[in-house]
Amino acid sequence: MNHTSGNSNSTDNLIDRAALLLGTVNSVFVLTGAGVSAESGIPTFRGADGLWKNYSAQELATPQAFQKDPVLVWEWYHWRQDLILKASPNAAHYALSAFESIFEHFLLLTQNVDNMHRRAGSQRVLELHGNIFRARCCECDRKTEYTGIQGVSNDLPRCVCGGLLRPDVVWFGEAIPEYIWQDSLDFLSGTAVAMICGTSGVVWPAAAIPRIAMEQGVKTIEINLEPTPISNAVDVSIRAKADVALPLLVRKITDRPTSKIS
Ligand code: APR
Repeated sequence: MNHTSGNSNSTDNLIDRAALLLGTVNSVFVLTGAGVSAESGIPTFRGADGLWKNYSAQELATPQAFQKDPVLVWEWYHWRQDLILKASPNAAHYALSAFESIFEHFLLLTQNVDNMHRRAGSQRVLELHGNIFRARCCECDRKTEYTGIQGVSNDLPRCVCGGLLRPDVVWFGEAIPEYIWQDSLDFLSGTAVAMICGTSGVVWPAAAIPRIAMEQGVKTIEINLEPTPISNAVDVSIRAKADVALPLLVRKITDRPTSKIS
């Protein structure tokens, strides 16, 4: 049942309902997207500030764009690395890291490549789209930690083998790491609640997660500033900032004595 309409639809009421759902379970799956990092000052992809030099992510985050102009694509990634390094995790990241100690079984699947969840202390994190602070050799496939320094040089980063390095992220049209997807589905099939935070839900395969959860009888909670394609289908849709709603949820769950079921 959807709880997005009616008088009892205030954000507080919706957070209460979500807390009630979460307060009775011991297994939770969370999917996050760029909205969770928005309050850290990291632009979302499809928001008003999502363009870089008038390019959209869809134009730059492709193997074709890299092949055509690796300097431009690396310049964009260096700019993002720099921005992310200067930013700090926000209350949403910290709340999700607290979830790990609240729920016996917990998995966080993120589409974000910004490493913020780990910086906030999360350990049970799977990165569906890779990590912006890793590079991979186009020739030998060797992975390496990599933080470029913006503006210092136009030279392209190279592997020890001499091959061109590329960001170790998943671009449009590329396959996601199969084991990450499989581990996520395995966890999802045995969990009680799935929470979807700060994602527009338009990029596959992550966009399939809410439906897969619902088909398996998993209760679903969405936290997003805006309505999304799944807002009317989830059990509870909370229209709020993640850095406000998630800490409130943590407080409400941990304040209330409950008897948990799996
Ligand atoms: N709190 C909660 N939600 C927010 C906040 C906030 N403070 N700020 C923005 N949002 C929501 C927006 O309403 C939007 O629905 O976050 C969502 C961000 O959507 P996108 O920019 O499309 O980001 P995301 O869903 O993570 O994109 C998926 O697309 O470009 C690719 O690989 C990239 O991982 C990315 C993927």
